[in-house]
Amino acid sequence: MPPPMHDRAVYLETFGCQMNELDSELVGGALRSLGYRFTADAQRAGVILYNTCSVREHAEQKVWSRLGELAERKREDPSLVVGVLGCLAERDGQALIRRLPVVDLLCGPGELDKLPHLLANAIQAREGLMADGVEVERAAATSARQVALQGSASRRSGTLAAAEDSLERLDLSRSFSPVDGAGRRFSAYVRITRGCNKFCAYCVVPFTRGAEVHRPPDHVVDECRRLADEGVVEITLLGQTVNHYRFEHGSAVTVNGLTQPQKGRSYRGGHRRDPYSGAGVTTFAGLLARIHDAAPSVERLRFVTSYPRDFGDDALEAVRDHPRICRYLHVPPQSGSDRVLAAMNRGYTASQYLEFIDRARHVLDQPERGRPLMLAGDFIVGFPGETEDDFEATAALLERVRFKNSFIFKYSPRPGTVAFDRLPDDVPDETKRRRNSALLDLQARISAQVSRAQVGATFPVLIEGPSPRHVKTTARREAVGLTVGGLVIDGPGPTPQRSDSVQLAGRTEGDLIVFVDVAPDAVAGLIGRIVPVSIRSCTALALHGEPAWG
Ligand code: 5AD
Ligand code: SF4
Repeated sequence: MPPPMHDRAVYLETFGCQMNELDSELVGGALRSLGYRFTADAQRAGVILYNTCSVREHAEQKVWSRLGELAERKREDPSLVVGVLGCLAERDGQALIRRLPVVDLLCGPGELDKLPHLLANAIQAREGLMADGVEVERAAATSARQVALQGSASRRSGTLAAAEDSLERLDLSRSFSPVDGAGRRFSAYVRITRGCNKFCAYCVVPFTRGAEVHRPPDHVVDECRRLADEGVVEITLLGQTVNHYRFEHGSAVTVNGLTQPQKGRSYRGGHRRDPYSGAGVTTFAGLLARIHDAAPSVERLRFVTSYPRDFGDDALEAVRDHPRICRYLHVPPQSGSDRVLAAMNRGYTASQYLEFIDRARHVLDQPERGRPLMLAGDFIVGFPGETEDDFEATAALLERVRFKNSFIFKYSPRPGTVAFDRLPDDVPDETKRRRNSALLDLQARISAQVSRAQVGATFPVLIEGPSPRHVKTTARREAVGLTVGGLVIDGPGPTPQRSDSVQLAGRTEGDLIVFVDVAPDAVAGLIGRIVPVSIRSCTALALHGEPAWG
């Protein structure tokens, strides 16, 4: 592999989900360990990488417009290397380079372990182009094509038993080379499964991220332990259907001394208790328990995103019986209409979903002990064929469950999916918009009620940093003087002034946002710590509290 070009700073921007954030962290770490420098200023970068999302058209459009702007810049600076990583690269493939020659490099989410190699080649090819004295206009319009895509025809499952899954090395690499150069890290993601086998009719993920594979539990536990040793107090386990995790040790495959991830078994889910649990299988419940016990300094263990049908009582009981596992579930229903759920291929009915929610509440909801169960959902409105009655059923489900928040999306037809191919996008955009805002309004009302129910309670809160409001007022202060840690040290007045408090933002175990005002000199010692906060008031979006620590 040619040596990296150390003089080129890399700008890496991430779009979309938490899985992408983790991917960016891992490729960022891999590039850093090879000597690449990173910059937060795209204008100063010699390499621009976009880690993209394809779940909705809107997410893709953002990237397209960024790439359009770069085409302009590349005309002035043809040495610029541009890479598109992630789901858009996988979905649009080479068509993307043909449409936008500004792109030098494409790397799908299933091939990110190859990125350092592709990037080194792309840089070398572009330097070569410049050295050959190709005129600026032509150089700018020529891409130094480097491509690594899985292609939907080669979903990983087909080859996994025989070949090494090199992506596993990328996940493992983090444990050996901490990537977070910027200060102490207190919160981290750990992947337990990749890909998805559900094939919901609207969703591109099974095509862009490939077949579901489950990482060996020893790798996951080791990674959590190492993060704990680095001082991480909150770990969020990631998977598209995180609670579908299970690893059968008897059929584990080892290649080059490394246990390989295992393809998702087609067990049906919907079980109350994993029928195969016991010796030889690590279930999702078993994995939660192992991590909890192996990393006692991790005070919060979370997991997203859960699939409703796969939640056994064993997993709920594991959450209940391990005090540092958060009572927070993100379990998207998508719709409350059985007809739409069937057309979406979700594999459950509204009443089965509600039965699950009741079961989860029964096991986990303990507000009287300061541990209410908090639920978050995703909904799609305007799915093909959705009638007013279907929509009403969705609103009724949302109201009945009382999510603390929901992510609500207008249906976006995605090429390559079953819905795109077989179901006309027949709900007018205006109707989608109306249903979207009606559902948002309903959720806002429920969120406000959920918030109000917490007033008077005291919760442990993980302090994440200054609140956005505080950052804004500080920026205003900085316009008239210099502020350090809330202290205006070079203000407009004759003597330095002290701002009396700083507003910090944090989260409860149920993922409720909490704001708390503290003295400026306490700030540094609180960030990344879990402290008790008494909730005094609220808005729909957040709780406001007072310090309840000594
Ligand atoms: N259109 C709209 N929303 C979608 N989602 C996934 N695919 C689509 C689509 N084609 C939403 C689902 C999912 C979330 C991550 O994005 O609600 O849970
Ligand atoms: Fe997409 Fe459905 Fe898989 Fe979620 S479970 S990633 S919505 S196919």
